[in-house]
Amino acid sequence: MQVNIVSGGSEAASTGTLVVPIFEEGTASEPTLEALDAQTGGALSQSLESGRLSHKPNKVGAVVFAQDGATRHVLAIGVGSREDWNTTRARKYCGTAVRQSRGLGITLVTVVVPEACEAASTVAAMIHGAYVANFSTGTYKTRDKPDPDVETLGLLVSGDEPGSLERAVEHATVIGEATNLARSLANEPGNRLTPNEFADRAEQVALAGGLDYHAMDENELEERGYGALLGVSQGSRQPARMVTLRYLAGPDAPTIGFVGKGVTFDSGGISIKPADRMHLMKGDMSGAAAVLGAMQAVAHLKPKVNVVGVLCLSENLPDGAAMKPGDILVAGNGMTIEILNTDAEGRLVLADGLVHARSQGATHLVDVATLTGACVVALGTINTGVFASSTPWADMLLRAAEHTGETMWRMPISPEYREQMDSNIADIANAGGREGGAISAATFLQEFTGDVPWVHLDIAGTARTSKSLPYMEQGPTGVAVATLTRLAESVGEDGAP
Ligand code: BES
Ligand code: MN
Ligand code: ZN
Repeated sequence: MQVNIVSGGSEAASTGTLVVPIFEEGTASEPTLEALDAQTGGALSQSLESGRLSHKPNKVGAVVFAQDGATRHVLAIGVGSREDWNTTRARKYCGTAVRQSRGLGITLVTVVVPEACEAASTVAAMIHGAYVANFSTGTYKTRDKPDPDVETLGLLVSGDEPGSLERAVEHATVIGEATNLARSLANEPGNRLTPNEFADRAEQVALAGGLDYHAMDENELEERGYGALLGVSQGSRQPARMVTLRYLAGPDAPTIGFVGKGVTFDSGGISIKPADRMHLMKGDMSGAAAVLGAMQAVAHLKPKVNVVGVLCLSENLPDGAAMKPGDILVAGNGMTIEILNTDAEGRLVLADGLVHARSQGATHLVDVATLTGACVVALGTINTGVFASSTPWADMLLRAAEHTGETMWRMPISPEYREQMDSNIADIANAGGREGGAISAATFLQEFTGDVPWVHLDIAGTARTSKSLPYMEQGPTGVAVATLTRLAESVGEDGAP
C-alpha cells in the first residue's frame, strides 16, 4: 500500500473514493469538507442535514454523486463526539475506511484527517489502522477471490505541511507491517507453522533487519538444561526450538528482554482439551509472533536500547513419549516442576525463555503469552492482562499501551498465590487450580525472573477477535506488537526505571 499525505483541499483527491468523518457535533468545521461539498454539488451537506449519516463510531454511510459524467462515492464514517476523539478512534476510523472500501472493490482511497487533535499522532494511528484493515486471513482460499487490497491511501490534511508528517508515516508503516507479520503467523495452521518453520521465518526477519539470530536445537536445549521447554515437546514429532534475536544499540544502554510463548499447536497434551474449539489453539504462538513483530519494528526504528527477543517454540501433543501428569521436569534455573496438568504448558516454555533472556543480559523483562483461559474470564476480549514484579516498569508499559491505544489492565500478584502451587515432591507444581488461574500462572512465571524487573502480558483474550469488525477481519489481532515497540522506543528516549 502506497501512503500519501495530500493537502490543499479536496480537489487534491479528484479520483478514487473520498472518506469523511461524521462527528456528533456536525462536521462542517473541516475546511476540506466545504470544498468537498462544493465538489459534490451540495450532495454531502444535503445528506448531512437529512440525518441519514450516522455519527456512531465506525458506522458507514455513503453519498453518491455525479462528477464529469462519472459516478463517485463519498463514504461517511461515524467517529463519535469531538471530545472523545483519540488515537484509538483515529485507528478504527481509517481502518473502517479501508476495509469497507476493499469490500466495494475500491483500491484508491482518500481519507479526510479530522482537525480534532495533533496531526502527527492522528495520522500515525490512521495509517496503523489502514494496514490492519488491508490484511486478509484467506491465505488458503483457492476458489473465492479475496477482496482486493487498497493500493493507494491518501490522507487529506488541511493545515500541516505534508513534509512534517513524513516521520509519522514511516513510523506507522513500520508498526502496521510488523502487526500484520504477527497476524499472518498466528493465522498459519499448526501443520504449516511448526517450531522449525517459525524459527526459519524468524531468521528471515533477522536477515532483513540486520538482527543477530540464533536458534537452539534440542541438543543445545538439553546442554543448557532447558528441560521445561523440552518436556512440552516430548509428545510431538516436531522438535522444540528456542530462538534468540538481538538488536544492539550500544554497550551502555539497558537491555530489554522480550519473551514470547510460541506453542504452534496446543492440544493440551495428555490432559487433552475438548474438541470444540481446539482448532483455535493454532494461535497459541501469538506471544512469540508479537515478539517477532516487535523485533522487526525495532530493527527499523533503531531506538537507543538493546533488545533481546526470545521465542519459545514447541508443539504440545500427546503420544507415548509425552510428559504425563505426575512427571517431574527440571527448568534452566535448576528448579524442579511437578506436572499436574500438561495443558498448563505455556508457563513451562516461558520459564526457560525467561531464564534464557536473563542469561543474555536482559536488565528488564516482558513476556507475552496466550497463557490462561482464566484471564479471558476475568477481562474478556477487550483488555490484555498485565502482571508485574515492578510498578515503575509496569507503569512504563501501561503508558506505552495508552500511547498505542491497546487496552491493558494491571492485575495483582502477591506471594499468597504461590501456595496454590506447592508440591509435595518438587519445588513447584505447574498448576494451581481454578481460582485466580491467571494470577497463579503469573506467580509461577515470576519464579524464573530472579530480581529483574518483569512484566507479563496475558493476551489469551486479546490475541484474536472472533467477531468480524468494521475495521478488522475476524482472526488474529497482532496485539502487543505496537505496545512492545513503543516501550522500546520510550526506554530509548527516557531510560529504564
Ligand atoms: N493456551 C491455553 C490458554 C488459552 C485458553 C489461550 C483460551 C487462549 C484461549 C493454555 O495453555 C492453557 O491451556 N491453560 C490452561 C491452564 C490450566 C490447565 C491451569 C487453562 O487456562 O485452562
Ligand atoms: Mn495449554
Ligand atoms: Zn497453551
